[in-house]
Amino acid sequence: MEVMNEKKVIATLEVDGKKHEFPVITGTENEVAIDIKNLRAQTGIITLDPGYKNTGSCESAITFLDGEKGILRYRGYSIEDLAEKADFLEVVFLLIFGELPTKNELDNFKTDILGQSDVNQDMKKVIAGFPTSAHPMGVLSSLTSALTAFNPKSVNVDSEEDMYKAIVKTLAKFPTIAAWTLRNRNALPLKNRDKNLGFEESFLKMMFEKPGEEYKSNPIVVDALNKLLILHADHEQNCSTSTVRMVGSSQAGLFASISAGVSALWGPLHGGANQAVIEMLEEIEKDGGDTSKFINKAKDKEDPFRLMGFGHRVYKNFDPRARIIKKAADEVLSDLGVNDPILGIAKALEKAALEDPYFVERKLYPNVDFYSGIIYRAIGIPTEMFTVLFAVGRLPGWIAQWREMRLGKEPIGRPRQVYIGENLREFKDLENR
Ligand code: SDX
Repeated sequence: MEVMNEKKVIATLEVDGKKHEFPVITGTENEVAIDIKNLRAQTGIITLDPGYKNTGSCESAITFLDGEKGILRYRGYSIEDLAEKADFLEVVFLLIFGELPTKNELDNFKTDILGQSDVNQDMKKVIAGFPTSAHPMGVLSSLTSALTAFNPKSVNVDSEEDMYKAIVKTLAKFPTIAAWTLRNRNALPLKNRDKNLGFEESFLKMMFEKPGEEYKSNPIVVDALNKLLILHADHEQNCSTSTVRMVGSSQAGLFASISAGVSALWGPLHGGANQAVIEMLEEIEKDGGDTSKFINKAKDKEDPFRLMGFGHRVYKNFDPRARIIKKAADEVLSDLGVNDPILGIAKALEKAALEDPYFVERKLYPNVDFYSGIIYRAIGIPTEMFTVLFAVGRLPGWIAQWREMRLGKEPIGRPRQVYIGENLREFKDLENR
């Protein structure tokens, strides 16, 4: 790489004796990228990068993370500050529109969301078709896509007003249908949001209120939920966010794009890990609590077992969210007077792993999913709802990234491939095969 003058940096690629030059760009946090937009046109050559471990899909101004240093910021604000000082809807506004809202902006935003929070009663017919045994993430993805039926117009992104309305509608209705996935499992009547309550209180009430009872949420639980939603709100180009951007790049609507993101998040290697962590810790507890046996299983290449909640594509240091959640887990459980033995198992597992060369060499640390389930459990969220909670938290990030991609008029996503199949061959009639 050479500096042509103080501004322009050029990368030179030599293939088969021929040199090709490409511009190099530097982000505001000094990340450096070779701009290969014209690589194939210029050279006839493409790159190959399974899992996109080395490939930037876009330029984005929403979230910055430094995996080596364990830094995470939303629109320049540190996750530590936001988790400590902000209200989830302030963070929603910040991620989507780029600035922390004034009091007036926040009040108007909350009012607009409240105004759209009722879900069309016909949606109850959609959810009634699911067995109570259906996993809530599958129901949530279907219901989110079904919202398109009641909001058929795709978003006219050239109209600020249309874009704002679609965003408010999504923010307003998604938590309700998310809560309905639990009520459907418990065969409870589906209710719309109580408009006299705040975001977390109304969400908890929609999930748990039983007929004939006046549900009262615990302020400790509300605080913990606010913090968890903020910590899950965005994480740059992770699997589900890249899915939302990819689906949106075909000019599919916002509900359809979010529905695809819910499905991607469900996977146990991604958001589904928070459920898998608790199932793993319960298995260890049932097995007598011997963490070394499971550490060895995780290290054994012949064994498909992985230490769920450990490792990360980008963080090669502690996930800053895991630090905050671990501290919050201690606080919430002691404030609630909950003594959950699997918290102790989690800490023992973390200690053992962080002292084991296999994990140290591979820079495998606890990620956001390792401790979050312990808090969800303590505040009464059933295990199969953990990833739904992750989706409710991640919704503003998906929306912000979708909006950035559409306003930036990015081209439809369509990766190339390297073909390794058969060369041209003659068709053989059946009798000659
Ligand atoms: C999330 O991308 C995001 O930002 C995601 C997320 C977000 O906010 O959106 O942060 C949320 O999805 C967190 C991750 C949740 N998933 C898990 O906890 C599942 C367990 N973790 C792993 O499956 C894995 O660490 C991934 C999927 C998270 C990352 O996988 P990579 O980057 O593809 O790494 P890899 O599989 O190539 O692993 C590198 C090495 C391998 O060993 P070697 O082949 O070098 O010998 O580390 C090993 C892996 O076998 N390894 C693990 C391990 N994770 C990686 N070994 C045991 N247990 C693990 N958990």
